[in-house]
Parts: sequence; C-alpha cells; structure tokens
Amino acid sequence: MLTLGIETSCDETSVAVVEDGRTVRSNVILSQAIHTKFGGVVPEVASREHLKTIVPIYRQALDESGVTLEQIGLVAATMGPGLVGPLLVGLSFAKGLAYSRQIPFVPVNHLEGHLAANMLAHHDLKTHHLTLVVSGGHTMLVEVFGVGEYSILGKTRDDAAGEAFDKVAKILGLGYPGGAALDKLARQGNPAYFRFPRAVRSEEYQFSYSGLKTAVALHVQSLSAEALEKHRADIAASFQAAAVDVLVEKTVAAANDRNVSDVTISGGVAANSRLRALLSEKLAQVGKRCLFPPMDLCTDNAAMIAAAGYYRYQKFGAGELVANAVPYLALE
Ligand code: KG4
Ligand code: ZN
Repeated sequence: MLTLGIETSCDETSVAVVEDGRTVRSNVILSQAIHTKFGGVVPEVASREHLKTIVPIYRQALDESGVTLEQIGLVAATMGPGLVGPLLVGLSFAKGLAYSRQIPFVPVNHLEGHLAANMLAHHDLKTHHLTLVVSGGHTMLVEVFGVGEYSILGKTRDDAAGEAFDKVAKILGLGYPGGAALDKLARQGNPAYFRFPRAVRSEEYQFSYSGLKTAVALHVQSLSAEALEKHRADIAASFQAAAVDVLVEKTVAAANDRNVSDVTISGGVAANSRLRALLSEKLAQVGKRCLFPPMDLCTDNAAMIAAAGYYRYQKFGAGELVANAVPYLALE
C-alpha cells in the first residue's frame, strides 16, 4: 500500500510517499529559511510559508515517487503536537485530498512519527524496545510495546535537549537553529576544557537543561572577547559533552532496567555525532543494540509520518476527517 504523508508541525513543509511502511519512494523536505533572521520560528510566518509551498511540495513528492494520486491508498498527516497554524495547513490539505478522492485518512501524532522513523529504517527492530526522543520540543525516554502502546519513563522538566543546543548555539553566534552547527564546531574543540553541570541526580529518568544552558551563558559572560574567540570550539565541545553524557547515562540505565535489547534514538538531536557514537559504544558494552535513523529521517520529515500512519492504519483502521489540530497532543 502506498501512503502519502504530510508534515507541517513547525518550520518544515514536507510531503512523502512510502510503500508498506518500509520503502521511501519520495521524501521532499523544505526547511523555511525565513526564520533565521528572527532567531527563532515565528508561527504566523511559518503558517504563511506552508500555505505557499504545500501544493508545489506535494506535486514534487508525487513526481519523484513515480506514483499518481490514483495509486495512493492512504493519506496521513501530523495533527500535533506543534504550532496550531502550521499544523492546520497540512492537516486541512490532507483531509481535503482524502475527502475529494475518497482515500482513507489517518491523523498522526508527530512524536509517534519520530518513533516510526526507526521502524522505517530498521526492519528488524524488536517490537518491544526503548526509545530516546530528543528534538527541539521534546526530550523523553519511552518504552515501546507496540504501535500505540507507549510508556513514558521520564521527560524533561524544563527545556528540551534541542532547545538547549539551539540556545547555546545562539550564545556562540552560530545562528538558528544551531544544533547541527554546534555539533560541527564541537568536533574541533576539547570536551574536557570546562566541566559544565550534569543534571543526573534529579529523579531517575527526568532530564533538565535550563541549568546547563545558564551555566554556559554565565561562563561566556565571564570571558574576555579574545578568550571567547579562542575557546568557542572548546565551549561547544564541553557543552555538548555535558548535554550528551546525561542522555547516554540515563538511556543505558533505562535499557538495563527495562530489559530491552534494542534502543533507538529519534528526533532532530538523534543527528548529533557524539550522541550516536557514545550511546552506541555504551550500549554495545552491555550487549544491546543502538539504532538511529539516517540523517534525513532524524529531523522533521513526512516519510516518518507516512510510516506511522500506515502502522496505525494496519492496527486501528482509518481515522476521522473531523480530526483537528492539537498543539499539545500527548504521546500516551
Ligand atoms: O525533530 P526536529 O527536526 O524538530 C522538532 O520536532 O523539534 O528537531 C530539531 C532540533 C533542533 O533543536 C536542532 O538544533 C536539533 O534538532 N539538531 C541537532 C543536530 N541536528 C539537529 N542537535 C544537535 N546536534 C545535531 N547534529
Ligand atoms: Zn520533530
């Protein structure tokens, strides 16, 4: 079955065609560059950009897949969590398409989409597994028992991991969103240059990033302009080490605790080189597998939404066309 997926929850307009929840036929992603000059996503501007680009991106996704709309068996779109205006653009477009062509429709939870990116990329992933969701809006450890069966073991009490990367990147003058640029700069720096605080002692699987972000800001303020210029890469590397160490420590502990053999990372921060390398190494030491999606399936994309929609359709059937955008939609 061919699924058309649509993702517009934040600042990526994306449309994809996925076959049987396993094969990506096309996955067109347009990242809205316009927000860079504001230093963050402006919701109203994002909605207008989605409106302008959704139809051409949809056409491009069909073209690249070599599939016609008549061959599409299912339409899936993100219903939340996310920004309400942007969500409404993709969701309304998807519902209109499904209604006019009488194609079954499934609304998808964006976080379930990130989880599905791993099922799409790794066909031998065990049904029962642990996943670390790390994105610009979420940081959580989730035990997965099957499609739609999730138990959240812990999440962040304040900022999300990606948010911390973006804020520190901004402090270091790397632009927005700066997670990937910070990762790149950190590779030239010394992670042991400065020991930033690691919030590990708080409740078992809870995370906290606001203290780390403040510590970096205070450290930067304490430096002269010359010292800051000299140590930018070291600060990036030391921040990244602190941010990633906590994620790795808690994920390995949870994997042992919950007795799972497969662990996945999902969400934009899953693209982080240190997180991928360190978590793989530490999990291998305890005989567990660490799986993460290829780069283009880590950050927001419609292929993961198509896959999640397909799995949901197989288990629960079609959704309702009355489905509305839900900005704070929960995973459980
Ligand atoms: O999943 P995503 O595309 O959007 C949300 O659903 O939030 O995640 C975007 C986040 C941003 O905060 C971005 O800076 C971060 O993922 N990110 C990274 C890297 N690539 C993207 N953070 C750290 N290292 C990276 N290589
Ligand atoms: Zn996301």
